[in-house]
Formats: sequence, C-alpha cells, structure tokens
Amino acid sequence: MHDMTAQYRSIKDEMDRAALGVLERGIYILGPEVEALESEIAERCGARFGIGCNSGTDAILISLLALGIQPGDEVITTPFTFFATGETISQIGAVPVFVDIDPETFCINPDAVASAVTPRTKAIMPVHLYGQAADMDALSVIAERHGLPIIEDAAQAIGSLYKGRPCGSMGHAAALSFYPTKNLGACGDAGMILTNSEDVREKARLLRAHGSGGSYFHKVLGWNSRLDEIQAALLRVKLRKLAEWNESRRQHAALYNSLLAGSGVRTPIEAADRYHTYHQYTIRSPYRDELKPALTEAGVDTGVFYPLSLHLQEVYKTLGYREGDLPEAESAAREALSLPISPTVGIDDIHYVAERIRAFSVAWKGR
Ligand SMILES: Cc1ncc(COP(=O)(O)O)c(C=O)c1O
Repeated sequence: MHDMTAQYRSIKDEMDRAALGVLERGIYILGPEVEALESEIAERCGARFGIGCNSGTDAILISLLALGIQPGDEVITTPFTFFATGETISQIGAVPVFVDIDPETFCINPDAVASAVTPRTKAIMPVHLYGQAADMDALSVIAERHGLPIIEDAAQAIGSLYKGRPCGSMGHAAALSFYPTKNLGACGDAGMILTNSEDVREKARLLRAHGSGGSYFHKVLGWNSRLDEIQAALLRVKLRKLAEWNESRRQHAALYNSLLAGSGVRTPIEAADRYHTYHQYTIRSPYRDELKPALTEAGVDTGVFYPLSLHLQEVYKTLGYREGDLPEAESAAREALSLPISPTVGIDDIHYVAERIRAFSVAWKGR
C-alpha cells in the first residue's frame, strides 16, 4: 500500500538538506520552518491561518476547544471514519452524534445531519473521507440555519476541492493530518489547524503550547502539541510535490476505474464538482472478506478502512446505538476495500491488481 522509502528516495537530496539545515540551525521546535509551513499550507488550502501541531488528532481536539465546545455538547459527525474523529469529541466530554453516510461518496449525509440537530447540538464535523469532499453546501445551509460552526476533518483531503474551494477552507476550523502515509506525510506525527478566524487562531496557538504564549505565564489549560522543525522542514519539501503526487493518484484511479469496469466490484465515484485526491482508492464488494485474502495470496496488499463503524465500537456501547441503526455506514464497513494507489505504485502493478480482481470475480461466480 505504501512504500515510504521509495518516496524518500525520489526526493532524497532535498529531504536530507532540509533535515540537516534544521540540525545546523539548532532551533528544533516551533521555529522558522514551522512558521513558513503554516503560511504555505494555509495559502495552499485557501485559509487565512495555519497552526501547526503534533498530529491530526490534536488538530481536531484543539479546533473543538478553540471553538468553545464544552462537556455535554453534541457534535454531529460521521461514524464511517478513523476513530480520532469521534474520540476527540468524547475526550473533551462532548457527545458524538453519529449519523449515516451517503453510500456514493462515503461522506456524511446532510439530510441525516439536518434530522439530528437538537438544542444541545453545538457543531457539525464532516470528514472528507478518502480525499473526497463532503457535501459542504448542503452542510453549510444546515449550519447557518442553526448557527452552528463546522469543523472539517480534512485529515485525508489536503489538495481536494469542492466546487473549486479547497478542503480546509470551508468551515470555521479544519484539521489536517500529516501522518506518514497521508498524501502529504511527515516522517513522524504532525498536523495542522486551519482557520479564517483570528480568535480561533489565537486560542489554538495558546492551546497547543500549554496555554501560554511562550513565556511562563499561562492563560488557560492547554496541551503540549507543538510541531517540530524537522517535520516542518521535511513537509515543506514534500509540499512542493503535492500537486503532482495528487494528480498521479487521480491518474491511477482513472486507470483502475477503466480496468475494473464490469469486473463485479463497485469502483469509487467522483461526485459532481469535486476534485478527489484519492488518499484511498476504495472499491466495494459484497465478497470483500473473500476477495481480500485472495489478493493477499497474490501478493497484493490492501486495506480495510474501516472494518467497524464507530457507532458500533465497544467503547461507544454506552451511547446506545444498535446494529442496523446506520445501515449505509454498516454496509460500507462490510464492503469497503482500499487498493494500492500511492504515486510510487507502478502502472504494471495496477494492471496486475485489476487482473487479479477480475480473476477472483470469475472464479467466485463459477463456484
Ligand atoms: C479521518 C481522520 N481523522 C483524523 C485522523 C487523525 O490524524 P493523526 O493520525 O495525524 O492523529 C486521521 C488520520 O489517520 C484520519 O484519517
């Protein structure tokens, strides 16, 4: 799925120079590289401010806190996502309200969001899953009608567009993840908050650094979520490649789509007016649990993102959801299978994967 060393080798000289430059300079945390990265990413994502932090998880957590979400508040979100989306809401004592997804895009269904709003709702958190934007216009109408902020979980969607607008620029705050395997991945943990609000920016900068502006005077309780200089320097090198890498993912996706047409699996769609950056290329098959081991046997690494919808996770038993409550998310969890898509995957590999899937489908039909 991910050959991190192949990516490193393709830009080795620049990466080495960037890392060594930081070692020589001797400023290791929250220095000039972080500041430069914050403005470069904010500009790329169409937001006024970027606030670097330790991870995408922290970026969501700090966004929630900076927007004033309190214990007991409800935050409407999708259950078909990485755990951090729900976890951060719960960590601050707020309540994730999981609603169903649109089976075409795997993203939150705006009609379900509209039906879930209560007087306790204090925010909406869509996830731009697999690199495809959620339906932000429909969500913004609901948010405006009820005076709610939107926090975009854009962890998987740097460079993705919705009606020409970058993911990360459309909410009151947004969270990016630079986990190593992301389209823009660090060489460790890293993340960033994006916002157009000066108030959110100021609060987020305090919260990521123990509630202090850098002195030993503390205005609020915060966290240690500072971004380090080596990660920022390496990310700046990779950022220069991001557009090209995202294009390559799109070309790989188009090739898979054509090779898998009529093969018995459902290929992903790019909804109207979106620029999908294929953090994952995710097919659907009712026989996913048989297809995956067949591909493993053929030497093809695949991923299941995600095998259990958050509303059915053990940790969320206390929320009282039952199997069948969110059928589209549950069905996606049973059927989704992500294929190798990263820019380091070769065209021959894609032909091979598609051919193995077609062979599986023929064998499965003829059982
Ligand atoms: C949708 C989503 N949200 C949040 C996160 C958390 O990001 P991180 O791993 O950088 O903490 C991830 C990353 O895996 C993610 O995919």
